[in-house]
Amino acid sequence: MNDGMESSTPASAISSADEVRKLRDELDKAGKKLVFTNGCFDLLHAGHVRYLAQARALGDALVVALNSDASVRELKGPSRPVNTEEDRAEILKGLRSVDAICVFTEPRVTKLIEQIKPHIYAKGGDYTVASLNPEERAALDFVGAEIEILSLVPGRSTTKTLQRIAAGEAETTDAPRKLRIGVLGSGAGSNFEAIRGAINDGSLHAEIACVISDHNDSGIITAARKAGLPAFFVDPGINPKRFPDSAQKEVCEHLQRANVDVVVLAGFMRIVRDPVLTEFKDRIINVHPSLLPKFKGSDAVQRAIDEGELETGTTIHLVTAAVDDGRILAQASVPIEIGDTAELVHERIKKEEHRLLPQVLREWTEK
Ligand code: GRF
Repeated sequence: MNDGMESSTPASAISSADEVRKLRDELDKAGKKLVFTNGCFDLLHAGHVRYLAQARALGDALVVALNSDASVRELKGPSRPVNTEEDRAEILKGLRSVDAICVFTEPRVTKLIEQIKPHIYAKGGDYTVASLNPEERAALDFVGAEIEILSLVPGRSTTKTLQRIAAGEAETTDAPRKLRIGVLGSGAGSNFEAIRGAINDGSLHAEIACVISDHNDSGIITAARKAGLPAFFVDPGINPKRFPDSAQKEVCEHLQRANVDVVVLAGFMRIVRDPVLTEFKDRIINVHPSLLPKFKGSDAVQRAIDEGELETGTTIHLVTAAVDDGRILAQASVPIEIGDTAELVHERIKKEEHRLLPQVLREWTEK
């Protein structure tokens, strides 16, 4: 009798190395990329799910090399794994981000890397490129795989979960999640510092998930690196007026991988287009140094002086495809006095921005 239930013994979710190699070759022919990662994935938690989604976003398909039961035991001790390799594979296969699963029995994943020849190798942020196992590193270099280290989701781990269960403690969801902010900038980075200051003094419940700049030596990227934050330079190419499609895509991928909730354009001197605009619709804010709708575009401060305005200011607004045109979230004005230079007025404006921007983000956290 058919009771509408699926068969209780589904086909194995585990693929052979040859099958995955075939997938890799097909992708390669189509100019696409296979991402490879490995791990135990014993008790799947939100950290795993987010990590795998980030890994998948690096290319066009994702293969997970799963530690066999024996190798989990060796790594984690005799009480592990909690789930068998067949079950772990079946659970992983249920994720949209996972395209194939292989199981490896050796302590290292070297042989699978050599057999599959992935285009990209992803590893969690508890490693650095330098701390990867030398044998695996050599195999990756040999097959020409790009290595990407992804940030881990803090506080989530199978070991921690098991300890909590053993202690009879419940997981608490009392603390609201921190707002994850991605900051894009080209210049000094004083607005970035204002956000950081508000986070550090506890007035903004957020974290800076990534910083992106189109200048590899800008103040903002230097400060972000110094602060130990994930900071990325995206090469804009040679045309100062154009931020090409490849760069737009790269920015989007960094923001996605960092699981950003809101994107802040803090002095980013490029026009942001798709896929970022679509992917982060209504979640991108810009800081513009004028009282919009007046003085859209570049040189806004100088133009306000030249027009004989008695005041100008700053506007924080949502970003849409039309430049400096989205819904206004906050504004503050400053006076323009006789003899003022653009530098002087801009300093005055920045003081207001440093107050207003954290305030807008705070309101965002309360949404
Ligand atoms: C800000 O004044 C902002 O209005 C404009 O660029 C400036 C960025 O300054 N779009 P900083 O890099 O944050 O110091």
